[in-house]
Amino acid sequence: MSQGNGHKQFLSDWEDRRLDLTTKVAVVTGAASGIGRATAFALAQKGAKKVALVDQMDAIKTFAEQANENLGREAMVPFQGDVTNAEFRHSVFEEMRSKHGPISICVPAAGFTADRLAVKMDRETGETDLYPIDLFERVIAVDLTAPIFWAIETVASVARDRHENEIKRWNPDERVQGCIIFIGSVSSAGNKGQVSYATAKAGLEGAQATLATEAIFHGVRCAIIHPGFTDTAMVRSMGDSYITEHVLPQTQLKRLIRPEEIADAICFMIRNSSVSGELWADAGWHPVA
Ligand SMILES: NC(=O)c1ccc[n+]([C@@H]2O[C@H](COP(=O)([O-])OP(=O)(O)OC[C@H]3O[C@@H](n4cnc5c(N)ncnc54)[C@H](O)[C@@H]3O)[C@@H](O)[C@H]2O)c1
Repeated sequence: MSQGNGHKQFLSDWEDRRLDLTTKVAVVTGAASGIGRATAFALAQKGAKKVALVDQMDAIKTFAEQANENLGREAMVPFQGDVTNAEFRHSVFEEMRSKHGPISICVPAAGFTADRLAVKMDRETGETDLYPIDLFERVIAVDLTAPIFWAIETVASVARDRHENEIKRWNPDERVQGCIIFIGSVSSAGNKGQVSYATAKAGLEGAQATLATEAIFHGVRCAIIHPGFTDTAMVRSMGDSYITEHVLPQTQLKRLIRPEEIADAICFMIRNSSVSGELWADAGWHPVA
């Protein structure tokens, strides 16, 4: 065999082991805006069979219509609802399964921040004001519990489908069957004013590391990306002066990351089966102590 053919053989072996997006049904939460929206579009552009777009905002329907027109095919299927609602979650999985096949790719990107100091103290009186526990619990519900359960339901969806097809433990000779990419954050390492959000994002690391060991039984990989400050509604809500004074000086690229750059990194993580664990896509951001 010539060296050229050998190289070709190597490439096709590698491609054969890659997750085949064109046969896959994906779900992206938080898909009406920012990172979720860019990721859903990138997945469809790269050929995903169908993408369930999940968001609480009505805008999800318009985005699906516009994206389908742009793509020239009905790849996007919108669902409006709250990611913390288990019945809503089941209904998304069931509708996609019955019409298009089991969901096997999951990017649970819906999230929000509720920032304030853990303890505020009145300098005059010494009175302390603690971070409200109900707010803390809501952040955990949306940013930690919900992504984990959308991911677990994805693993279950692949497991059930394999059982129905009488396929047992995943075999490395098969292609990878599915993939979950959690959206962490640079804040997972700790960030002033973000006691709830940082807790949620750090918690996702434990879920990722655990699901990675369990889900591969069914051929599903699980990884986490930690984006830095990305140009989305979430970051813009901090205000231009905060971004200029506190974010950009600590960012090596001296600019916000584009949501499409994070989407590109997520697609790479999904398609390249050798990638596991964590990817930091932070434009070189370092917090000031
Ligand atoms: N923007 C950043 O700098 C940055 C950095 C690191 C991580 N992240 C993470 O990336 C993800 C996407 O954030 P973004 O910056 O694109 O924000 P964004 O505000 O632009 O989009 C978040 C989307 O999630 C939806 N959402 C929020 N709560 C929901 C709920 N309960 N049910 C359904 N939908 C809900 C919102 O409606 C919105 O469309 C989040 O998990 C966020 O924590 C963002």
